[in-house]
Amino acid sequence: MVPSPLEGERIRLRAHEPEDVDRAMLWLNDPEVRQFLGRQYPFSRKEAGERLLVAPSFNAALFAIVRKEDGLLIGDCGLFDASPENRGATLGIQIGDKTCWEGGYGTDTMRTLCRFGFDVMNLHRIDLHALASNERAIHVYEKVGLQREAVLREAMFRFGRYHDIVVMGLLRGELVEGPR
Ligand SMILES: CC(C)(COP(=O)(O)OP(=O)(O)OC[C@H]1O[C@@H](n2cnc3c(N)ncnc32)[C@H](O)[C@@H]1OP(=O)(O)O)[C@@H](O)C(=O)NCCC(=O)NCCS
Repeated sequence: MVPSPLEGERIRLRAHEPEDVDRAMLWLNDPEVRQFLGRQYPFSRKEAGERLLVAPSFNAALFAIVRKEDGLLIGDCGLFDASPENRGATLGIQIGDKTCWEGGYGTDTMRTLCRFGFDVMNLHRIDLHALASNERAIHVYEKVGLQREAVLREAMFRFGRYHDIVVMGLLRGELVEGPR
């Protein structure tokens, strides 16, 4: 059987379905999940549907993250702003179900999504922005091979003060595979 490029050890990536929207609303407006993410304005259910129910493509490769053992939707991830000339894209990830944090799902999702980016989308480079205080996320990114490339000083206003943003990048061939 041909292995699916969307299968990890513990998670599987798939397109969103209409019935995912209600569950995704649980975390799209959860301040604890959103504190490290860019957008702070609330999502309506209509807007959440419009954002999630888009067929993944080179222009916006957004995926639902589901747990393999039971098919439970636990978050979303994607590769955005892909450039056909430069072969680069920007990665986003959220394990929205907080009960799943620290279960290895983020690491597995990162590896699966980056493999998809390199092997299927034929990317050369994947990058992302992380709030400097998001130590868990940065730990996961470094574990799978992303390098700290720059710091955008005081680039994000959050919790009443400015925070640094870390720019991280991964080139084709640098992905670190392995157990959690
Ligand atoms: C960041 C996120 C994707 C990580 O996913 P996860 O499933 O919780 O991560 P994993 O279980 O795969 O790995 C967590 C790792 O971080 C480590 N960790 C936890 N807290 C940490 C901290 N404060 N500092 C450093 N490392 C930490 C764990 O020990 C574990 O490392 P290990 O596997 O080497 O022991 C997830 O927590 C999440 O979506 N958070 C909310 C949204 C978010 O921050 N998105 C990223 C925006 S840039």
